[in-house]
Amino acid sequence: MEKPALHKPVMVDEVLEFLSPRRGDKVLDATIGCGGHAESILQRIQPSGILVGIDRDQSSLKIAKERLKDFDKLCRFAHANFSGLDAVLSDLGMDAIDAALFDLGISSFQLDDPLRGFSFEKDGVLDMRMDPSESTRASDLVNRLSRDELAGIIRDFGEERYAGRIAAAIVERRKKEPIKTTVDLAGIVKRAVGRKYAGQRLHPATRTFQGIRIALNRELENIETAMDKITGFLGAGGRLCVISFHSLEDRIIKNKFREFEKMGLGNIMTKKPVRPADNETETNPRSRSAKLRAFTVLGRQG
Ligand SMILES: C[S@@+](CC[C@H](N)C(=O)[O-])C[C@H]1O[C@@H](n2cnc3c(N)ncnc32)[C@H](O)[C@@H]1O
Repeated sequence: MEKPALHKPVMVDEVLEFLSPRRGDKVLDATIGCGGHAESILQRIQPSGILVGIDRDQSSLKIAKERLKDFDKLCRFAHANFSGLDAVLSDLGMDAIDAALFDLGISSFQLDDPLRGFSFEKDGVLDMRMDPSESTRASDLVNRLSRDELAGIIRDFGEERYAGRIAAAIVERRKKEPIKTTVDLAGIVKRAVGRKYAGQRLHPATRTFQGIRIALNRELENIETAMDKITGFLGAGGRLCVISFHSLEDRIIKNKFREFEKMGLGNIMTKKPVRPADNETETNPRSRSAKLRAFTVLGRQG
């Protein structure tokens, strides 16, 4: 089987500008993925400093470790959910860091692998676990939740206006046999609401897949928890950068940063989210929906 290509990191220059990693800094990459951003950060903090790289996905961590082996003295890797970043940092004996990056969602390495079941364009098992060591798969939600629960997930996390109709079609179909594959689910959605999407660029299953993925992996809860914890580790002058890929994530970040500012913790560095430049979206279409927001903790030293 063809190996999925490595993920191309988005807005690297912009991340470096706002994160401004310097020689000797301690930096948390809370979503290290294939290590693309981490590599650029390490080039700035070397020859000393520490980069802590967290990921929920062991196979991504393995790739990051291999990619960053030239910097291995500076790297600390953790297979963890970033909602537990406090435990990861404490275990490493770190009570303060200079900068933190969250590049949310999944990587193209994960999306392109049919065995992971994230994409309706690849025929694969309906899995969608960011951390494959967890036990519940997307197929469990799709085959077990009630119609109302499914409709709620698809509406709230997928922002799908035809959620009720899609949930009804899922429940109808699973009476015959369980829904097992990505292509199965995409077909059910397409038959249920395909006509409503006629003439649109968006595939009819896009929002349903997003909703199920977010619910299964508790993505929004994890982001909220991590944001509440991270400021406790950023000392005076600390920088926090978050890249989000859809409006639900971005809204949480926008509101959290406002809350931090109101609490007097520091300043929002991006009055509006920063978007990738045209030449980046041309060469990496997946960067199109990316939005970068940055915050700096009060008392930054020059
Ligand atoms: C967009 S990719 C990051 C790509 C990375 N910046 C790079 O340059 O290769 C997002 C990564 O975050 C991980 N991830 C998502 N949510 C997570 C969470 N709650 N805790 C830890 N890792 C998470 C995913 O498994 C994925 O590898």
